Amino acid sequence: MTDNVNTEKLNTIYEYIRVAHGGGAYEKLDESLQPRPPEMLYDFVERLNLVSGSTVLDVGCGYGNNTCDLARRFNFQVKGIDIVDDHLEFAQNAALKQGLAEQVSFIKGSLESIPFEDATFDLIWCRDVLEQVQNVRQFARECDRVLKPNGSMVIYTIFATELMEPKEAARLYKTLGVVPESMSASFVEECFKDAGLQILTTEVIGSELMQYYEERDGRATKELMRLARMILAKEKFLSQLGQTNYEVTSALYHWAIYQLIGKLSSTIYTLRKTV
Ligand SMILES: C[S@@+](CC[C@H](N)C(=O)[O-])C[C@H]1O[C@@H](n2cnc3c(N)ncnc32)[C@H](O)[C@@H]1O
Repeated sequence: MTDNVNTEKLNTIYEYIRVAHGGGAYEKLDESLQPRPPEMLYDFVERLNLVSGSTVLDVGCGYGNNTCDLARRFNFQVKGIDIVDDHLEFAQNAALKQGLAEQVSFIKGSLESIPFEDATFDLIWCRDVLEQVQNVRQFARECDRVLKPNGSMVIYTIFATELMEPKEAARLYKTLGVVPESMSASFVEECFKDAGLQILTTEVIGSELMQYYEERDGRATKELMRLARMILAKEKFLSQLGQTNYEVTSALYHWAIYQLIGKLSSTIYTLRKTV
């Protein structure tokens, strides 16, 4: 009986497999879904209708790319904070080179203790940072504190989905300094609501940005092949790169691939401080 069922199943499966490797209806899967570029994140700022000269805080500003873009595109006064010295130095130089020294400045600071007075900012921009924040509840309270009444927030972050297996998550998070609870959408949303920030919009974009990067310059397949070589010739690359570098690089490439296969998924929020 089992054999019969399996025979039937295999016949069906191989029929699909034969077609899936070929063309026909499956060619539709080769068609782009027209992913939007990362600049689409600025559309969320645009919709907030903030006036020129508004004060903005870029939390976890990294190399200051968005800090400078926000100043240039919208004519905002933007402060960037980050905890990594190298990032701040790079960001400061970038702003100088772009002639934005009057509009943009950077300061070292932790997101759990934002080094600004209460009610300073019209907008907080938070891109790709929440994942590494140790205490999201405290961070959310700090955002609420430094926002002016009716101030807004735009958050882009990545969450784990139900496809992420616990062992995969543990390996990935430990290596990249990702905080497990910050990877849960329900926990993060609860923290911001409890802090007094109302979620105005939520857009789950999944792997859209990663699909954009892949279609633009083959980034994901390049990283997938690098990863495959690192796995196949592990000893060689371990001795070339060293243990830590090997592990961080491997985790970083997994991060990209996990987005494409749905273990990680991106969401964009806009929030407003409730007075
Ligand atoms: C993935 S990078 C993103 C940088 C930038 N927002 C972007 O999208 O290009 C994350 C940044 O957040 C910073 N960061 C992480 N946790 C932080 C914390 N608790 N306080 C301040 N900065 C933090 C890191 O140093 C890093 O520069």
